[in-house]
Amino acid sequence: MSQKNIPYGFQTIENDDIDAVGNVLKSDLLTTGPKVAEFETALSNYVNANYAIVANSGTSALDMAVAALGLKPNSEIITTPFTFVASSNCILYNNCKPIFADINKETYNIDTDQIRKKITKKTKAIVYVDYAGQPCEIDELKKIAQDNDLFLIEDACHAFGAEYKGKRIGSLADMTIFSFHPVKHITTGEGGAVTTNNDEFYKKLKLLRNHGIDKPPSERADYSYDVKMLGRNYRITDFQCALGISQLKKIDRFLKRREEIAKRYKEELVNTDKLTIPYVMPNVKHAWHLYPIMVDKKINRDTIFTSMRQKGIGVNVHYIPIYKFSHYKQFGFIEKNYPTTEDIFSRILSIPIYPKMTDQDVDTVIREISNSLRG
Ligand SMILES: Cc1ncc(COP(=O)(O)O)c(C=O)c1O
Repeated sequence: MSQKNIPYGFQTIENDDIDAVGNVLKSDLLTTGPKVAEFETALSNYVNANYAIVANSGTSALDMAVAALGLKPNSEIITTPFTFVASSNCILYNNCKPIFADINKETYNIDTDQIRKKITKKTKAIVYVDYAGQPCEIDELKKIAQDNDLFLIEDACHAFGAEYKGKRIGSLADMTIFSFHPVKHITTGEGGAVTTNNDEFYKKLKLLRNHGIDKPPSERADYSYDVKMLGRNYRITDFQCALGISQLKKIDRFLKRREEIAKRYKEELVNTDKLTIPYVMPNVKHAWHLYPIMVDKKINRDTIFTSMRQKGIGVNVHYIPIYKFSHYKQFGFIEKNYPTTEDIFSRILSIPIYPKMTDQDVDTVIREISNSLRG
């Protein structure tokens, strides 16, 4: 048994983060106050986008982004099946149809050749996911979008701080989505954001976050306001935004530590013939939300999973392909149409990676994974 449990991901909360939250809790405005705009400015500056709209989760941010496209019911949106279910639930919330395209066998990101094969007259958008923190081939996606008049939504919930060809993720698609769940690069407890350079999307996103209401109480001359469209309540509190502002100041340190851990895993595991370490494209900066290893075909991944969990190491499987879920059965997806997703799903295992991991924790994971593989 290892001495302590090591989860696959975990937040880093320090005293200044706690003070920042405490200060807001002592103030008059717990929500819709100044910290929201302050966090949005800090975020948009960080990702080099004109606008950031923060929300109460990454899932809410995805829903707002698809809603902002204003698509007709039954429009088709192409996405990856190898992601968290929120990436495609946002399509269903908006009465559109998710169409899955198989993934690339090296990056585990959506395969652009497969996307091309799935495009029909009804296709209106692509929701692509930067799996584990590695950006997709965005130039290729942009070309597909231009050729076929499609919108691009980048689900960058794994890729805060990542870069593609020297550009930080956040303004390369029509809209980009981030999550601030505790296992992500920075946290607000629950939280998320959409970033965009597009004025029209920005205006719609602001309405969508707050019931479609045109002006907040602070901007009203009297009691009157209008509801311009069907919105939601996806507002995030000021104390969460204060936490986000405080966390964002530490992002370089957090990303550096993730990178160090990934480097160490690579050095120690690259020569193990029973597993494959993640492939990193030469033109990206990986944000290392996850460190997914892939076990050899002859090895039973579930045996390794159980043995690691018994040792207190919180390995995980990212992801069960979305078409396997009960709710998705009604759409008639056929598993054998996604051979790469099926193969990767059967062999993938996320091992722990988060800034608070000590060198000793990293050594423990390396030792135990090597022992488990030896069997
Ligand atoms: C790829 C991806 N998209 C969306 C989400 C949803 O984010 P949230 O948990 O903030 O709603 C997650 C969360 O894990 C995710 O991994």
